Amino acid sequence: MNLLMLLPVFVVIGVLYFLRVNLLVWALAWWLGCYFLITHLLKIPAPVSVVKIYMSFISLGIAAFVISDRGRWESFKKPLLRLANEKKFMPLLILLVLAGPSLAAFKVYHSMSQPIEAPSFGRTIHPAPPDEITFKGKQIDLVKSRNPFRELEVKDPEAFKQHVESGRKIYFQNCFYCHGDALNGKGMFVHGLNPLPTNFTDPGTIPMLQESFLFWRIAKGGPGLPEEGGPWMSAMPAWENFLEEDQIWDVILFLYDHTGRKPRAAEAEHG
Ligand code: HEC
Repeated sequence: MNLLMLLPVFVVIGVLYFLRVNLLVWALAWWLGCYFLITHLLKIPAPVSVVKIYMSFISLGIAAFVISDRGRWESFKKPLLRLANEKKFMPLLILLVLAGPSLAAFKVYHSMSQPIEAPSFGRTIHPAPPDEITFKGKQIDLVKSRNPFRELEVKDPEAFKQHVESGRKIYFQNCFYCHGDALNGKGMFVHGLNPLPTNFTDPGTIPMLQESFLFWRIAKGGPGLPEEGGPWMSAMPAWENFLEEDQIWDVILFLYDHTGRKPRAAEAEHG
């Protein structure tokens, strides 16, 4: 309960009482006050249908109060009759007559001018990879396979650097259009893409993944995503059609090296 909300209602009712307003204003004030309380008194918002039910009871109650007594009915309709008949109220009358259709027109316009958005779908960003893939006719076991060049990092840092360098070239020849020259997913082609290209600098992406997962995603791209990775709108190309196996392992090294991250499996093996 939001008891503080009672305060403005009491204040307005009090002021109207002292102003000795006519019954029409009174009835309107009660109606609006009730509406305000129904929508604001409870901390949890009431559903529109419930508000409508309450408001129709309240409208009936107020109507019954007004018409059940000849005196009240006369004083209720007096201002209405004056509004309709007296010359000096003519502008107000015209305004009121125009306000109804204008409000309706505005409501229609408002509901029609909502920006059109693509429907959103639930999508598993990192679906479970298959255990095995066929890469250019060769079986690759994704559970067991490791990046063959990863061990060079310790064993032969010079050779490792060369593989990273080759990965850098592959990246800037093929990937940066979408994944961006800062690897942040803001490439020049991204504006029409949904889902967006992965931001590799985001700790929620490649550090959470094993290199074999990346190999699968790079080799098979959007078309290789299972059902749960759908909808099938990913623009990620299947690079097995353009790159050799070694080149894919190289570009994977580059992705981690450039972002200063470690793949998940490597982390687990070290500690
Ligand atoms: C035409 C745009 C485009 C190009 C070019 C592109 N990608 Fe992608 N890539 C995407 C999109 C879009 C996604 C996100 C949707 C998805 O996961 O399929 C993605 C996802 C990925 C993922 C999955 C990351 C994750 O967290 O699951 C990897 C890895 C990846 N790309 C690597 C590459 C590499 C490496 C290249 C270059 C050889 C490349 N991409 C080129 C559009 C592209």
